[in-house]
Amino acid sequence: MSKMIEITSTVSEVRQTIADKKAEGKRIGFVPTMGALHQGHLSLVQQSIREMDFTVVSIFVNPTQFNDKNDLKNYPRMQEKDIELLKSVRTNLVFKPTEQEIYPEPDTRVFDFGMLNKVMEGKFRPGHFNGVAQVVSRLFEVVEPHRAYFGQKDFQQLAIIRAMVKMLGYKVEIIGCPIVREPDGLAMSSRNLLLTPEHRKSAPLIYKTLSEARNKIGELSVKKMIRWVEETINSDSHLRVEYFELVDSETLQPIGSWGHNGGIVGCIAVWAGNIRLIDNVTFK
Ligand code: PAF
Repeated sequence: MSKMIEITSTVSEVRQTIADKKAEGKRIGFVPTMGALHQGHLSLVQQSIREMDFTVVSIFVNPTQFNDKNDLKNYPRMQEKDIELLKSVRTNLVFKPTEQEIYPEPDTRVFDFGMLNKVMEGKFRPGHFNGVAQVVSRLFEVVEPHRAYFGQKDFQQLAIIRAMVKMLGYKVEIIGCPIVREPDGLAMSSRNLLLTPEHRKSAPLIYKTLSEARNKIGELSVKKMIRWVEETINSDSHLRVEYFELVDSETLQPIGSWGHNGGIVGCIAVWAGNIRLIDNVTFK
């Protein structure tokens, strides 16, 4: 029988538990989250549980990555339900620190991610990835996992985390995991809970359009494809595209043509009322 779930709010307890597990030769898997867990998060936790000996999940709504105060205020928080879900999949340790525990002093570090941070989310959410790098580096230094799991829905975040791991010389292996979708195709996101019924009804058009776009590669140029995706989604009055970009899957820089030498991913951000949704699909 596996032991009961352990829950802690302190860095020192996490460090102690991890040191004990490592002394027993156990391999540590880590899933950082901001809570309001859904099936997408649970798929990361389950993959860690399958692959590793001891799985740690953190729940921390990180203020430094919110460039919009209202987004931080409204971000869904439901810790009891989260912990029940984590119990149900047999998570070993839940770390739910306070802000003081993560940032005993304000984190003033500024990361330079170069061009990776100048496009898409980096451009439209200034400071966002700097905050993500601050909290994830802090969490990595506390948990010191062998592997950490991130969802591919946040495609640019995954690239930023890989760049950060390289920059800081961490030994952790970063695992990107597939997007989990609702039956109607909408990518799972904690922010989906905040959609009004009308916006929730319109939101599946995002993935539907991206999927159709993939079948039009031979038909439309890159430029025309971008316009087609924007116009198709904007034709629903509940949705407004902030950007749709076709980018190289590693550099995340916009591609010029379908003949591009490398993987191509279509990344999108859409406002559904006051809620901002992102999604992406592989084109090549
Ligand atoms: O993807 C998220 O939920 C957050 O950006 C992360 C990685 C937990 C950092 O706060």
